[in-house]
Amino acid sequence: MEIATSHAKVPPPPVHVAIIMDGNGRWAKARGLPRTLGHKRGAEAVRRAVEFARETGISYLTLYAFSSENWKRPAGEVTDLMGLLRLYLRNEVASLHKNGIRLKVIGDRTRLGADILELIAEAEAKTAANAALTLTLALSYGGRDEIVTAARRLAEEVAAGRMSPEQIDEAALTARLFTVDMPDPDLVIRTSGEKRISNFLLWQSAYAELVFLDVLWPDFGAEAFEAALTDFHRRERRYGAASG
Ligand code: FPP
Repeated sequence: MEIATSHAKVPPPPVHVAIIMDGNGRWAKARGLPRTLGHKRGAEAVRRAVEFARETGISYLTLYAFSSENWKRPAGEVTDLMGLLRLYLRNEVASLHKNGIRLKVIGDRTRLGADILELIAEAEAKTAANAALTLTLALSYGGRDEIVTAARRLAEEVAAGRMSPEQIDEAALTARLFTVDMPDPDLVIRTSGEKRISNFLLWQSAYAELVFLDVLWPDFGAEAFEAALTDFHRRERRYGAASG
């Protein structure tokens, strides 16, 4: 009886959680280590976050792995990050697949290397039918750029006579974003104490709860994820409506 009661109190997890993984550099600096080691530990935190999301019943986990602004970092650091990504795609896809996880990538693919594009295509194809969790990596991703690209596509369709300006509405724009087949995020988490959205899922996060954690990304694990969910569940989501 008691078990049933406590069970009934557990709220359902958010359907879509998006994370701005921040603080790899500061984690390394605090230890006198090279930044690249911070990113390496960050990749291990990615594994923990994915495992936690799957065990918790979250359906979509979207991770900001490389922003369009990250291309401005020193060449060596960009190379290191791309190297980690390559390793992740080579080493983790089998395990993602075994665990029923679908992998997707959103962002500007034109700037990614040919070998990475090939690894992404293979991973997406292999895991396409999996349904336990959709893991989306935002790579070379920028929210404004995504909206501009969608707007350009709408303009092209109008110019070609396939659409009238009156048909442009929220649904029409949403349908031309990278995230076309995903629900909007319910919760956006940012680690490292910074309180910014940094061009991540700008359109999609219109009504998301934002949770900022002080933990640096390489230290992120089940405990920090739980803390973010607890905060999320405490909030009353009203989507702009009056409180009831
Ligand atoms: C922020 O740390 C993190 C990134 C630039 C990208 C996230 C990358 C990873 C977690 C590693 C690889 C990812 C995958 C999917 C394998 P920062 O360098 O901005 O930290 P700082 O603000 O403390 O300098």
